[in-house]
Amino acid sequence: MSKRLRDKPSSSLASVQKRQFSPGGGGYEGQQAYSEEQEDARRVADHYSARSNQTFEERENSPIVHLKKLNNWIKSVLVQLYARPGDRVLDLACGKGGDLLKWDKAKAGYYVGVDIAEGSIKDCMARYNGDTYQQRWKKFSFPARLICADCYETRLDQYLFDDAPFDICSCQFAMHYSWSTEARARQALANISALLRPGGTFIGTMPDANVIIKRLRETEAMEFGNSVYCITFGEEYAEKKFPASRPFGIKYKFHLEDAVDCPEWVVPFHLFKLLAEEYDLELVLMKNFHEFVNEYLQNPEFADLMGRRGPLGDGQQGQSTLSQDEWEVSYLYLAFVLRKRGPLPFQRRVSNANRGKTFLAEEDIEFLST
Ligand SMILES: C[S@@+](CC[C@H](N)C(=O)[O-])C[C@H]1O[C@@H](n2cnc3c(N)ncnc32)[C@H](O)[C@@H]1O
Repeated sequence: MSKRLRDKPSSSLASVQKRQFSPGGGGYEGQQAYSEEQEDARRVADHYSARSNQTFEERENSPIVHLKKLNNWIKSVLVQLYARPGDRVLDLACGKGGDLLKWDKAKAGYYVGVDIAEGSIKDCMARYNGDTYQQRWKKFSFPARLICADCYETRLDQYLFDDAPFDICSCQFAMHYSWSTEARARQALANISALLRPGGTFIGTMPDANVIIKRLRETEAMEFGNSVYCITFGEEYAEKKFPASRPFGIKYKFHLEDAVDCPEWVVPFHLFKLLAEEYDLELVLMKNFHEFVNEYLQNPEFADLMGRRGPLGDGQQGQSTLSQDEWEVSYLYLAFVLRKRGPLPFQRRVSNANRGKTFLAEEDIEFLST
């Protein structure tokens, strides 16, 4: 039986900070269709939970195998650029632990992974224990703790108080799931800000709203895509207008072959930046994936990583590489880095002794109900 916590942290909407986001005097009130959002969050969780760990053959035969490799390369670059040995890592929406090896390579000191999907957290546990083909017998250098919770509704700052401050927080391909309501977006940023140390870094990847809206406007229909993806907007957006006064809850359906099939939300990046600033998180970097790839491929170390592990291969004849359709999908995403404001603490390191575990059983997974 998994450990289910009864003393649920205050996670209802009432507990979420109620300040309304109002740059320039506007306001985003009246956008909290709470039960619908909970249902959507559950739909997202069920979708990811149902996706089990792939075998090596399944992965290599995936129609988006090179896109997955490209995404991994981008995440590796972010981790290598911003993580330092001994860092305490908070991996929000950690999924099946696809980034564990990256944190190991960066010599992380302690790892806390949180995800809403129970199936994914269990897969993450198996990967951490070296029980999957990807990481067979692998022993990770850092102790870990895994939590099953809705990162955008739960007061993680209260729950993880004893583990804070974290040096780095990562939220890969998942921040947009917080943008269904203002309250959820705020709770996400409040958690990150409260758990990061001053000077700590928040790295992430998410869909690029500018590209998505541009693509939508370029077509006469309400959907667009190619052989590997399809994005569908509802008829309520038939005018293809997205007023700045209503930036939350702009839902579309995203289908990506062999990866995603669930609702997602548009995140207007300039508003994400403004909202993050309210939580003392300052923008350091934002790049569309195409720009990111072109820039960091100039770095010999990252170019070498791309050659060894990446989607472009090492140029050997006959080797398949990223297709045009996969490259188009990557244009739908951006990478960002934010830094927590405030004076750097005098003593940066706190001991990680007695934190987490080096082998996790199902009983060790912590469930935070909302
Ligand atoms: C595309 S996957 C990315 C997983 C992982 N970050 C990676 O890059 O491999 C998106 C993840 O976000 C998680 N997720 C979505 N909404 C969430 C929420 N409200 N709280 C926690 N995790 C969430 C899903 O369960 C899924 O594991």
